[in-house]
Amino acid sequence: MSDHGTTVREYDLFTPEAIADPNGFLHSVRAESPLSWLPQLDAYLLTRYADINAALRNRRMDSANMARALQRLTPAEQEELAPVRRSIEMWMGHTVPADHVRFQQLLKRYFTPAMIDRLRPRVRAFTHELLDAVTPKGQMEVVRDLAYPLPANVIAELLGMPVSDREQLQAWSRDILPIFGNGDLQQLRQAQRSMLEMHDYLRLIAAERRREPREDVLSTFVAAEAEGILTEDEAVANCVLLLFAGHETTANLIANGLVLLFDNPGELARLRDDPSLTPLAVEEMLRCDGPAGVIGRVTTADTEVAGHAVPAGKHLYLALMAANRDPDVFGAPDVFDITRERNRHLSFGMGTYYCLGAALARMETDECLRILLDRCPDLRPAYQTPDWLPTAPIGHRLASLPVTF
Ligand code: HEM
Repeated sequence: MSDHGTTVREYDLFTPEAIADPNGFLHSVRAESPLSWLPQLDAYLLTRYADINAALRNRRMDSANMARALQRLTPAEQEELAPVRRSIEMWMGHTVPADHVRFQQLLKRYFTPAMIDRLRPRVRAFTHELLDAVTPKGQMEVVRDLAYPLPANVIAELLGMPVSDREQLQAWSRDILPIFGNGDLQQLRQAQRSMLEMHDYLRLIAAERRREPREDVLSTFVAAEAEGILTEDEAVANCVLLLFAGHETTANLIANGLVLLFDNPGELARLRDDPSLTPLAVEEMLRCDGPAGVIGRVTTADTEVAGHAVPAGKHLYLALMAANRDPDVFGAPDVFDITRERNRHLSFGMGTYYCLGAALARMETDECLRILLDRCPDLRPAYQTPDWLPTAPIGHRLASLPVTF
């Protein structure tokens, strides 16, 4: 395929080379082909910062439904899993634009700077509590002991769940995730059971909040329900969205960020010497190894992408991780520099669907890193090579991260 002088080359994201070194692979794609075609995924791929930035602002594209695993099922299986599909269709970003604006305006009532200030001492307390449990041992597995439970606790707090139910939330989160990856039928059935269980649970809390409102998301939702702005089904569905959007993402940022520090001992030493650099370090972690490495779009009308005409109804993957290492925008893009200036990474997206939890994720990671480095001055990796697992369609996350201190 050729248009405007460049060729739309085909790539395979599932080769051993692409899986072993996703950033190296995407560097070659970016240099060779502004718009690429992924035959196995029946989708285009964008890798350049300028093209991705334009796509994120392109009104002829919508956020694509991420429940990929559900789309591969037989008609009978799809019928069986219709409740989970219908619920995900109510998530903001998966809805028609008018509903998206309605949910966005509603959640902006809750996601305010005052909410961040209110949650900050809770995040500190959660981090200390999790570290208290492991410090006597002088070792921990960061993903299991800190990175995964911390944001789950924050979301539990945000939803207004009692402390005793926090672990249940982590279990639901773990069960629901295969819907967005390569889950098999058995995993999808479990995901549906857990999602429906979580809905029932949230309905009970919503009923309590109707009687006695508090400062949590469900109270915001039930107040909006009383104003006729949304239904209870939409409220509980969007609570699950918050769990999906805010749990693994933040967990992966904390864990991936630590690996970047261990890989760059000079930067770790600078951060220890001057903890006021933590916010900049978090931005550089987001740029170098942000958790939402690739996001999906679908064209809603004929449009131009990277100089090529793309018809309506086509799927595109925007590789934010490739944009964040584009040498046209970032000097020495593969260098992890915690004092990098003008770090305009795209890890929280841009435009219409910009991450509502960006400030929250930044605050959680900032507090967690400060407390961890302060309490564990001797923190060291206890692995030979990081325990990366490939993520779909390209990228990685840590299965575990053992450390000693
Ligand atoms: C490091 C952590 C996080 C990263 C990297 C991240 C990344 C993203 C990205 C890239 C998008 C845009 C998706 C698109 O354009 O299709 C997004 C949207 C969103 N994020 Fe986050 N996110 C993080 C944490 C959170 C947290 C903690 C929450 C809330 C608890 C949250 C809530 C949301 C919501 C509600 C949306 C949808 C916004 C909309 O459709 O208008 N995220 N996030």
